[in-house]
Amino acid sequence: MDNYNIYDEYYLSGPAPLGGEKRQRYYIQKLKMYLTENCHGKSLTYQIQTFGCQMNFHDSERLDGILSDAGLKEYNSEDADIVIFNTCTIRENANQKLYGHLGRLKNLKKNNKNKIIALCGCMMQEPTVIETISKKYPFVDIIFGTFNFHRIAEFIFRHIETGERIIEVEKEYSENVENLPVKRKYEFKSGLNIMYGCNNFCTYCIVPYVRGRERSRTPEDIINEAKCLVASGVSEIMLLGQNVNSYGVNFLEDSEIIARNPDYAFPDLLRDIAHIEGVKRLRFMTSHPKDLSDELIQVIKEEPVVCNYIHLPLQSGSDNILKRMNRTYTRDAYITLLEKIKTAVPDIAVSTDIIVGFPGETDEDFEDTLSIVDMAGYDQAFTFIYSKRTGTPAAGYPDQVDEAVIRERFARLLEHVNTAAKKRVERYKDLVLPVLFEEEDKELSGFITGRTEYNTTVHAKGSAELIGKIVNVRMTEPRGFYYIGEIVETEN
Ligand code: 5AD
Ligand code: SF4
Repeated sequence: MDNYNIYDEYYLSGPAPLGGEKRQRYYIQKLKMYLTENCHGKSLTYQIQTFGCQMNFHDSERLDGILSDAGLKEYNSEDADIVIFNTCTIRENANQKLYGHLGRLKNLKKNNKNKIIALCGCMMQEPTVIETISKKYPFVDIIFGTFNFHRIAEFIFRHIETGERIIEVEKEYSENVENLPVKRKYEFKSGLNIMYGCNNFCTYCIVPYVRGRERSRTPEDIINEAKCLVASGVSEIMLLGQNVNSYGVNFLEDSEIIARNPDYAFPDLLRDIAHIEGVKRLRFMTSHPKDLSDELIQVIKEEPVVCNYIHLPLQSGSDNILKRMNRTYTRDAYITLLEKIKTAVPDIAVSTDIIVGFPGETDEDFEDTLSIVDMAGYDQAFTFIYSKRTGTPAAGYPDQVDEAVIRERFARLLEHVNTAAKKRVERYKDLVLPVLFEEEDKELSGFITGRTEYNTTVHAKGSAELIGKIVNVRMTEPRGFYYIGEIVETEN
């Protein structure tokens, strides 16, 4: 590694390093210097609006970290000097929402010519979106995608310096940049990416096209990051990946751990992180039913800090539809897996994702989905109306389902899901469970809100000092999906 000092003026007056962490540290400092010299003591403000999944929220924490490090101040209003949208494109209406937002921002930009509007995330990976924005929303200043969001300081600096519109969307992953600053929303819990991308190509899903092929981070990098998180006050870690069960398919860097043990897989990683001192709760998502191993079930069972909670997307209960979705498991295989998990870990809470109205879904297929919902005892189910995503195989299937039929099925599914979830939540009544308190209650004054290891939300009377702590709570009153509880004692 060549010698350089990022705070050195001579270094900063030279050309930018060609890539990697060094280049981004260089631009963070350049942006900081520029703002110090030109903003007359006033901080430039930014707002990040995040849409979509946990992965996007975690990416936004990294954007946040980089901008804070460059000396910008977060200001949660669209009046901020820089407004950034980290977008989602999993369903069509997410795209429509963004266009609606941009319409409103146009006026704000009219009143403040120096305002910067930046768009990033999954939606920007779609060429048609870039075309639409270029034509209809010329006031958008910066566009970047999912593979280069770590370059945000560089893009802002270049835009400020040249006044030009920046469009930098890479088609695929090109560099692994670790160690840039991150600003977490919660001090005591954090997401941790263990892999990026997806190789599964479910026929309805756009994720493999906008997030690229699977790439796993090395166990060393992940374990180091977990240790740093703990050292900085994190007690709950959520390991993130589109399918954590295929962790290890394609590593981003060489790894000594893998060289010593080529069979190292997700259960090994989960166990290694569970053993890090100071990790009090460990979660992971998402787990594809097609390759969930017995070893993983063993780790959930044996490791006390691994939460007895699993997100196991069903998508459909019909063999015919599962096949057309390219989910590569059958209804029976899913049911058998679920039974195996529940036998090994009887108190486990299970959540799922279900899509209604996939092309070709008949009444019979839909009944097959309902029957699994009734039998599975899901604690929570995220239900989605099928959304046709251009570029995915299912968008070209001829037998799209009538909208009115979908709406009727969706309403019925919700009833079944809600009945099942309410019943499941009742089982905690009067138990004393550890709750990690996360924030002050938004509606009940004097109350704080947290979650059990089963992910059930609990509201209890208590002071803000308990936020970030795991506290024993008696689950006194089930209210549909959540509980009102009473704090019994402080665990630590
Ligand atoms: N339409 C509806 N739901 C979808 N999902 C993914 N793609 C689509 C789509 N085109 C749902 C799946 C997935 C969850 C994250 O989003 O259920 O598990
Ligand atoms: Fe999409 Fe399927 Fe990959 Fe999940 S596993 S991200 S649903 S393609």
